Amino acid sequence: MTRVLSCIQPTGDVHLGNYLGALRNWVIGQHECDAFHGIVDLHSLTVTTEPGVVGENTLKLAAMLFAVGLDPDVATVFVQSHVPEHPQLGWIMECTVSFGELSRMTQFKDKSAKREAEFISAGLFTYPALQAADIVLYDTDEVPVGEDQRQHIEITRDIAERFNARFGETFVVPRPVIPRAGARVMDLQDPTSKMSKSSTTESGLVYLLDDPAAVLKKFKRAVTDSENEVRFDRAAKPGVSNLLEILSAVTGETPEHLASRYSQYGPLKTDTGEAVVELLRPIQTRYHELLGDREELTRLLRKGSERARTVAAATYQRACDAIGLIRA
Ligand code: TYM
Repeated sequence: MTRVLSCIQPTGDVHLGNYLGALRNWVIGQHECDAFHGIVDLHSLTVTTEPGVVGENTLKLAAMLFAVGLDPDVATVFVQSHVPEHPQLGWIMECTVSFGELSRMTQFKDKSAKREAEFISAGLFTYPALQAADIVLYDTDEVPVGEDQRQHIEITRDIAERFNARFGETFVVPRPVIPRAGARVMDLQDPTSKMSKSSTTESGLVYLLDDPAAVLKKFKRAVTDSENEVRFDRAAKPGVSNLLEILSAVTGETPEHLASRYSQYGPLKTDTGEAVVELLRPIQTRYHELLGDREELTRLLRKGSERARTVAAATYQRACDAIGLIRA
């Protein structure tokens, strides 16, 4: 059976880009594949400076993952810091990737540029090595992610291949699985930038927990352009194309087909906003129910982490044996 793994950071609230680019496919994939999904709290330490925040966000994110439809009896949902093999193998991965390769990661360049006046941790730079460990620890075949993570999966492949060439066949080399629609949801106020938790404008970001009025308002105010022709053209019409792509991801119709139905921007904005409101309604109801029982959430995460650890520990040992480290 195909092994699938993907992870999400507990930094800030989950947004529409996370959902359409990744989470939705995790939910579909859990019934077809052997699915592992991690809440990568150690990754979020690259930008965390306050106590108490990461743990709270981890619980909320767990509630959201179950609310969107991950079934704890079907998928293995775990917390990265509960599985110590992640940072252990992360170090080995750091020693298998070069400074030059890490320097070429566009996400590091973007994030460090945005934080130019703030503390830029070394972890922000070495982050892809820990991500590679997250993936190869589970003998992962497929990694369902949004387009922004493609480069990180490519570097994971390079690291796994290099390790295998140096120390013998040890790791499965994973491939990215990127959805046709929703792979790159853009900021509604700046449609040339991806919708992101580190965005500067709140109004360009649609959170899964936004109430209907807020969602409709954000879509109504979405930046388009000074023409009035509805056409799907990412380069020339990024704002309109983003709306069409979101509507396409929600309805399953192609953006080109949807475009032919509209002659004005107003109705496109309204329909997209309303489609998103209906998409989010049941998710929000389940989220609030689940977050009401924190003990149960903690129990589910513990169960997932135990299952994850069994797999991760065996792979980690295999890697240590391949290198020839003396067993403890
Ligand atoms: P993160 O937490 O930023 O995002 C989680 C998932 O959401 C997708 N995504 C988007 N998709 C479409 N449009 C957008 N605007 C958008 N924004 C985010 C991301 O592609 C991702 O799939 N480094 C990863 C977390 C990670 C990971 C892993 C992923 C750590 N280890 C191992 C896969 C496998 C990250 O920061 O994702």
